[in-house]
Amino acid sequence: MFPLHRGRRLRTNESVRSLVRETTLSPSDFMFPMFITEGENVQIEIASMPGIFRRSIDLTLLEIHEVYALGIRAVNLYVKVSEDLKDNTGKEAWNPNGLMQNAIRAIKKACPEMVVMPDVALDPYSIYGHDGIIANADVANDSTNDALVKMAISHAEAGADFVAPSDMMDGRVLRLRQGLDAAGFHNVGIMSYSAKYASAFYGPFRDALDSAPRAADVVVPKDKKTYQMDYANRLEAIKEALWDVEEGADMVMVKPGIAYLDIVREVKNAVNVPVTVYHVSGEYAMIKAAAQRGWLDNNAIMMEQLMCIKRAGASLISTYFAKEAAQVLNQQN
Ligand code: PBG
Repeated sequence: MFPLHRGRRLRTNESVRSLVRETTLSPSDFMFPMFITEGENVQIEIASMPGIFRRSIDLTLLEIHEVYALGIRAVNLYVKVSEDLKDNTGKEAWNPNGLMQNAIRAIKKACPEMVVMPDVALDPYSIYGHDGIIANADVANDSTNDALVKMAISHAEAGADFVAPSDMMDGRVLRLRQGLDAAGFHNVGIMSYSAKYASAFYGPFRDALDSAPRAADVVVPKDKKTYQMDYANRLEAIKEALWDVEEGADMVMVKPGIAYLDIVREVKNAVNVPVTVYHVSGEYAMIKAAAQRGWLDNNAIMMEQLMCIKRAGASLISTYFAKEAAQVLNQQN
């Protein structure tokens, strides 16, 4: 007559639900991606990412204090440099007085407790919008790695806590580890974008940095599919993550987030380092667009997605919602 099991007893009210909740979120689970641009007192909202700005270093510092006060302890940094600083070698990427290096120094001085993770990849500096050096109609792997090592060392010299290679070249984690160690930076960590898929979800980010692959005077790949992963693949993600751990990655990343949570769980079960997830620009844009139309509840969807990413196995989530979500969490407590 009666149901054998009554699962609803554990869902009776919010107090009971809070006792048995398996996953929790806190502001220190989030990393905030920040876009930095040249100049002073500059702030430009990214059209496809309402609420997200490209800011000059002075205004970035104000936001850093705000982010820290919310309980967020890490930022991912991306720069947009002027066109005249771009070429095919990416050499501006390791200019000791470049925009990224200046931003790292300024942030570490203003807020030493903030964990600073600059992006390591050549796309912001490439005239072709690719993550490495173009040769023979493709991105050249090994010469790109040479450039990435110089770039990462310049970030470490400026005070970076972790470097975050997002380029997907083969063997770059080992090269970065050896390069950093040889330069005396054995305490600078590597958060590797290990399973980074060739995804259309990065569209708004490329608007933010004006870094989409573009037409050129030489033959260049029209997309990033010779280095970023095919989204049909699962085993490849585990393989890439295991290689990166073996090469010395302190943390690995799966990117994008929501559509890739099966990969997050599998990678989590395969490696013994923290797994980070990048909840990317297109995922942010989709929620913002639907919320602006009144079709979805921004905060409810935001918290649900972030919780689900954590439940899937993420130790850290890089998300444009970091500040908004931290505000929601801080109000709850
Ligand atoms: C480039 C890079 C990209 C993102 C982070 N680093 C774009 C790309 O690979 O083309 C995307 C992040 C986002 O969409 O939020 N190295």
